[in-house]
Amino acid sequence: MSNSGRQLEIGPTDNTSDQRTPRNRLRLIPEIARESFAPYVPQRGLSRQNEWDMTRIAADLPRAQGIAIEVSGKLQNERGTPISNAMLEIWSANHFGRYRHIEDHSNIPLDEHFLGTGRVFTDSEGNYTFWTISPGAYLARPDIGRWRPKHIHISVSGGGSRLITQLYFPDEPNNASDPMAILMGDDFERNIGKPYETPKIDVDSGLNFDIVVGGRNAVYFE
Ligand SMILES: [Fe+2]
Repeated sequence: MSNSGRQLEIGPTDNTSDQRTPRNRLRLIPEIARESFAPYVPQRGLSRQNEWDMTRIAADLPRAQGIAIEVSGKLQNERGTPISNAMLEIWSANHFGRYRHIEDHSNIPLDEHFLGTGRVFTDSEGNYTFWTISPGAYLARPDIGRWRPKHIHISVSGGGSRLITQLYFPDEPNNASDPMAILMGDDFERNIGKPYETPKIDVDSGLNFDIVVGGRNAVYFE
């Protein structure tokens, strides 16, 4: 095996990308071992019944606080071909901007009816839909006063790989100063959902987010 793997560059971001970038050169796993390293993505049947509806912890429990929204779109590769049966794992802050996570040390309120996590699979045409609560913006870096605009984290798994992106909301005051917006420039538009009206009485509005996982039209992945 060659000794010269690829070294990833640390880009100009919020001074934390260096902590998330591998420090050693990337090495290709020997072909004979690759199969055993490929993550296994469970099929649709393993999804819990309620995971597409993040507005409630369970179907018979009260709804979380805030504005209920629908998020939907199509997952596709660089040629525009739909990707079916991919797993989308979703997480976000609650209506107030608080994560239900051990590392969220803010004293912003939790919502006992909001877990902030969900999971859906794309259908045979690459389409997905989930419901959630429109998340609050939060002060991500109190030391430098940097707010993160409203956003939803989405992990896409399929075919042995996993990518993580973020969905942003249009016309949010902190969008332009967000590290991902600075990195992407004009292409940041791809990560901003496009509002649509939905006749469903259980949600206030819809946000369309088509996820392109490769090529020149790809959305931003971390
Ligand atoms: Fe976040």
